[in-house]
Amino acid sequence: MRRLCDETDARRLLNPGPVAIVTTTFRGIANAAPVAWTAPLSMSPPLVGVVLHPHRHTADMIRFSEEFAINIPGPGLLKQTAFLGSLSGLQSNKLEAAHLETFKAQWVESPLIDGCLAWIECGLQDVVPIGDHTLFVGKVVKVQALDEAYAQNWLLLERRYSPLTYIGGTKYAVVGSPLDAVVEVDIHGGLVAETVEERERREEEEGRDAELRVAEGEEGYEQMVHG
Ligand SMILES: Cc1cc2nc3c(=O)[nH]c(=O)nc-3n(C[C@H](O)[C@H](O)[C@H](O)COP(=O)(O)O)c2cc1C
Repeated sequence: MRRLCDETDARRLLNPGPVAIVTTTFRGIANAAPVAWTAPLSMSPPLVGVVLHPHRHTADMIRFSEEFAINIPGPGLLKQTAFLGSLSGLQSNKLEAAHLETFKAQWVESPLIDGCLAWIECGLQDVVPIGDHTLFVGKVVKVQALDEAYAQNWLLLERRYSPLTYIGGTKYAVVGSPLDAVVEVDIHGGLVAETVEERERREEEEGRDAELRVAEGEEGYEQMVHG
């Protein structure tokens, strides 16, 4: 189920640096391109940034239409994401060629991509040239996310509902393995790197590991762990 979120949720949705598919539309023609360079920029007003090379068709589309949408895919849209980044919207209708279904946004004209995990609609607030790229500052006007994927932060409970992050080349990863950082300090104000409970848990795990090594024999253990 899709759920409406607060504009300030935009910064959290962008936290793990997920790949964004930026959708745009101008004079009835829609386009989509993956963008790895995104950033939350301000809480109040809620602003987010996408950084684009000026050669991208998406950059022109945003300048002309003064709006855009950020669609955040999960691993189910891996190939579609890579495909959208492999050619320009000047060459073809990429959304159609990628067989992607879209639905109507609540505020912007840009279509939103079905099958994504979250959607951020933005009006264009500012255009800032930075080096060889351009920062497009978006004022967040609507935010939606799937219940299964997001509740104040990314839940990361199921792989298919976890955001895709871009490593480089053809490599992507799924954000996962959530860790809870409980910070404790000692009487000198120094960080307690390992609490008593954490040490006990680690020792227990190490003990189980050692028992397995004995039971399987060193060779069998290596094979079992590393295949
Ligand atoms: C995963 C991924 C991330 C990308 N990130 C960016 C980015 O942050 N900024 C950018 O200008 N181009 C980025 N690109 C390249 C554009 O998506 C690509 O040039 C695309 O074809 C542009 O489409 P357009 O011309 O229709 O806008 C990325 C490509 C991929 C595959």
